[in-house]
Amino acid sequence: MKISIIGSGYVGLVTGACFAELGHQVLCMDDNPQKIAFLNTGKVPIYEPGLEPLIKANAEEGRLLFSTNIQEAINYSDLIFICVGTPPKENGETDLSAIEVVGKRIGETIKSYKLIVEKSTVPVETAKWLEKTIRTSLRGTLEFDLASNPEFLREGNAIHDFMHPDRIVLGVSSERAGSTLVKLYEPLNAPLLMTDIESAELIKHASNAFLAMKISFINAVAEVCEKTGADVMKVAKGVGLDARIGTAFLNAGIGYGGACFPKDLDAFIHLASELDIDFKLLKSVKEINDRQRTLSLTKLKKLLSSLSQKQIGIWGLSFKPHTDDLRGAVALSTIQALLREGASVRAYDPVAMENAKSQIPSIYYAKDPYDAATGCDAVILATEWPIFKQLNFLTVKKSMRRPILFDGRNFLNPLRMIDLGFEYHGVGRTPLARMNAAL
Ligand code: UGA
Repeated sequence: MKISIIGSGYVGLVTGACFAELGHQVLCMDDNPQKIAFLNTGKVPIYEPGLEPLIKANAEEGRLLFSTNIQEAINYSDLIFICVGTPPKENGETDLSAIEVVGKRIGETIKSYKLIVEKSTVPVETAKWLEKTIRTSLRGTLEFDLASNPEFLREGNAIHDFMHPDRIVLGVSSERAGSTLVKLYEPLNAPLLMTDIESAELIKHASNAFLAMKISFINAVAEVCEKTGADVMKVAKGVGLDARIGTAFLNAGIGYGGACFPKDLDAFIHLASELDIDFKLLKSVKEINDRQRTLSLTKLKKLLSSLSQKQIGIWGLSFKPHTDDLRGAVALSTIQALLREGASVRAYDPVAMENAKSQIPSIYYAKDPYDAATGCDAVILATEWPIFKQLNFLTVKKSMRRPILFDGRNFLNPLRMIDLGFEYHGVGRTPLARMNAAL
């Protein structure tokens, strides 16, 4: 099938490249000429494992094209995916202006039937609004369908998630739209859920909100663990082994970040309030996360009395491993707070340092994790990159001024760290970490 992708950011590029890999003919459009020029030379503007070779191979086979011309993209096929950004406004509301621009251009351009699919994360009832937007600029009485096909791609795992989805949600309002989308996804042989458009839109928001809720839940439990000597890792396992609950997304830590959970939660809370619903549960999820994000700072202040003149090492900058994405990264807000308190910072990340330099130029960017720890009063592990498990920790300890290790992702073996002489602090597993880890 022929597919047009409008908006070649994270979602658009992964979706376009994967559809091409499934054998479809894809045109990815973006209004950023530098991005398209970059893609046309076989390079990828974001770090996502496996994406560059996929794009390169499919572009070489002629199944994946790039363009800056929206009209060309609209004319290219009868199946248009809208993947433009939907950033948050100050009040948490979703900014739909990029979708509005695309809708107007579609209305002005189309000359025959089109199926227009929302892939960007949008509030429920966006499709209704988009339909009106398209109709207002439509010349004549052309037929078109709208559909919602939300994405559930995790950064760092996006290709796998696209190719092996738990489910594909298709929100449609006509048989024609439904059968086209079923055919499109046929090669994946994945469970399909066909719904009305509003339900599909809501499934996306509700899924992200539920996952964020699991994280905040276990983080709240972690606080109780710390005060009682329980180990949150064991509690999470014991709770998660109940098939009704599941072990995923129960890793306690310094909170969730990224471009999705914080923004989507705000949007969901805002949408609910517009509908006169006070979604208190989600407000608490957000509150717990906000507090969690400052946990390393609170703990370090207690241990070091003051952070002024102290040197702090940061391991990991991206909001999660296997991406260079710094949006909503806990490491960045922690560094900014440390600098405000008068500390100096030495940071290391395997892939996100170039991005970080443009946002926080005033810290020392280390050449490796050892260099980041050298002379430090404490090291905070903010992102669980695998490399941080494979270090020679004796060398790390010897190089530090005071061997405080704050493991913000409960990634390291506490018993081993304590045996090596570190003052080890995890989330929800101290101060009895030694005893608990030994069991
Ligand atoms: C999330 C969802 O997982 C995807 O299904 C969804 O498609 C995507 O948002 C989106 O809306 O586009 P993503 O933000 O890439 O994906 O990353 P996650 O793996 O969900 O992690 C989000 C944050 O939660 C990270 O900061 C991570 O460190 C944190 N997290 C995750 C925890 O603190 N504990 C956990 O147990 C799991």
